[in-house]
Amino acid sequence: VSVAAVVPAAGSGTRLGAGAPKAFVPLAGVPIVVRAVDGLLASGVVDEVLVAVPAALVERARELLAGRPVRVLVGGAERTATVRLALDSLVLNSLSGKDSAHGGERLANPEGHAQIVLVHDAARPLTPPALIAAVVEAVRAGHEAVVPALPVADTVKRVAGSVVESTVDRSVLRTVQTPQGFTLAALRAAYAASDVDAIATDDAGLVERVGGKVHTIPGDPAAFKVTTPWDLHIAELLLERA
Ligand code: C5P
Repeated sequence: VSVAAVVPAAGSGTRLGAGAPKAFVPLAGVPIVVRAVDGLLASGVVDEVLVAVPAALVERARELLAGRPVRVLVGGAERTATVRLALDSLVLNSLSGKDSAHGGERLANPEGHAQIVLVHDAARPLTPPALIAAVVEAVRAGHEAVVPALPVADTVKRVAGSVVESTVDRSVLRTVQTPQGFTLAALRAAYAASDVDAIATDDAGLVERVGGKVHTIPGDPAAFKVTTPWDLHIAELLLERA
């Protein structure tokens, strides 16, 4: 069963304020997206990676990722649109039997395409390869959708403006990370059933909307998303000590 990974890297990175799209900001000298892709490949369970970037950065991404089993394509205006484009490209490209990185060999299976798809934020550059392998393992074990999840440490409150309305029971809450793993069939069905301009903050959310069952496995704090300058600082410190 072959595994493809989709890496949405087409965000603007406004909250990071680093003056470049987030995925292209260097982290200890290596662009965030390159670290994310190399983590996927280091897991040993990913056959092909599709990276979706802003239109103006396609050539730059190809240069940065040269020599890896990676295809670069243009992303969309929202993360959901970016993943949808990549998913369409994954299926079309595979069915046409063409694959620039492998001459089609890596994707070859009786159905002609990858049967497991991971969706992994470029913005999670320090995700441990072992977590990536664990997500794939859980899909192989029979779960159609798998997300890494962590308990919530802080107390969570619902607010209206600056006023607290209520306190939420955090024991039943989880924050979820990526990679999120799916059978190709489940992820395609979820995207096919949702509006082209639907917006979800994660891919499992779309599977939930069509009644799919999403399984959680233990997440890893190291898979945190680089969103703010603080996150970038923490990531740099972690790499310094590694
Ligand atoms: O903005 P946020 O941190 O939630 O983005 C998560 C991931 O989705 C990032 O890797 C970002 O590059 C990607 N993204 C995308 N296309 C967009 C917006 C975000 O690929 N239009």
